[in-house]
Amino acid sequence: MNLLRIRPKMTDDPIEETQQTPAEAPAEIPAPQPEASRAPVAVASAPGHSITLRDLKVFYGNHMAVKGVDIDFAPNKITAIIGPSGCGKSTLVRSINRMHEEIPGGRVEGEILLDDVQIYGDDVDVVAVRRAIGMVFQRPNPFPTMSIFDNVAAGPRLTGTARGRNLNNLVHEALRGAGLWAEVKGRLDKPAMGLSGGQQQRLCIARALAVKPEVLLMDEPCSALDPVATLRIEELLTDLKERVTIVLVTHNMQQAARVSDVTAFMLDGELVEVNETEKIFTNPDDERTEQYVAGKFG
Ligand SMILES: Nc1ncnc2c1ncn2[C@@H]1O[C@H](COP(=O)(O)OP(=O)(O)OP(=O)(O)O)[C@@H](O)[C@H]1O
Ligand SMILES: [Mg+2]
Repeated sequence: MNLLRIRPKMTDDPIEETQQTPAEAPAEIPAPQPEASRAPVAVASAPGHSITLRDLKVFYGNHMAVKGVDIDFAPNKITAIIGPSGCGKSTLVRSINRMHEEIPGGRVEGEILLDDVQIYGDDVDVVAVRRAIGMVFQRPNPFPTMSIFDNVAAGPRLTGTARGRNLNNLVHEALRGAGLWAEVKGRLDKPAMGLSGGQQQRLCIARALAVKPEVLLMDEPCSALDPVATLRIEELLTDLKERVTIVLVTHNMQQAARVSDVTAFMLDGELVEVNETEKIFTNPDDERTEQYVAGKFG
């Protein structure tokens, strides 16, 4: 199955033009994750897909923030990425769904593959990449002028995957999945900006779920959430990994230990160690990993 729906680039393709992320869009605000009209959406219950990074280098102008990382994110697993502030976690995950290139001066070298397809290939549709590889950002970023319902419906509307009652059901299911339904069911037509920060973050998670991505990148998705909402999201991630490959950036060591199968430790743009989560937290190979998980720095 060709997840990225590679097709020849057509310079005056109207679908392409209307669905591209505007170049001037703020880097942390992705366009609704649309899909061009072509191939069918991957089946929700299909096994997950792998993401492979090979010698990945990510730059801001001349500054190399990710310095040659090799890692496989295995299907149907949750991989946690941990490491001190500024070590390149967000930069790395943003490059996986091609959001990094929206930043002026943003540049990527090396390879990223979704299964065996080059995400940065010349003939790959960047819109399809962002549909297949959903993202939840560190700071909640609902579409500010839209209602709660419309925020979640934005992706499916653009992809044309659901309408009418089906769309309603999809939106309700995504809101339930993100643990927000009970709090918003009576006010779906109200502005998303009227929600609290934690509610906005769960709305963004619902928005990401509504397009049924194959891979989900979550950049500290729980940093604005209380312990109950955090637990709800952790349960959701555990359910989701049955069909979605998950990359979870977290500063919360307990969270990494609770929910992830594999943990990757980054330091100063490099990948120090990647191992089974239990090993990382009990008997890591690298002394720096041991010091970090023991709270001795960072
Ligand atoms: N837009 C940008 N322009 C220039 N440099 C940037 C930009 N965003 C991040 N950087 C730099 O890239 C490096 C990695 O930043 P990044 O945000 O990926 O770190 P992080 O590990 O996610 O940190 P945190 O845990 O605080 O979120 C840092 O040195 C940072 O200053
Ligand atoms: Mg970050």
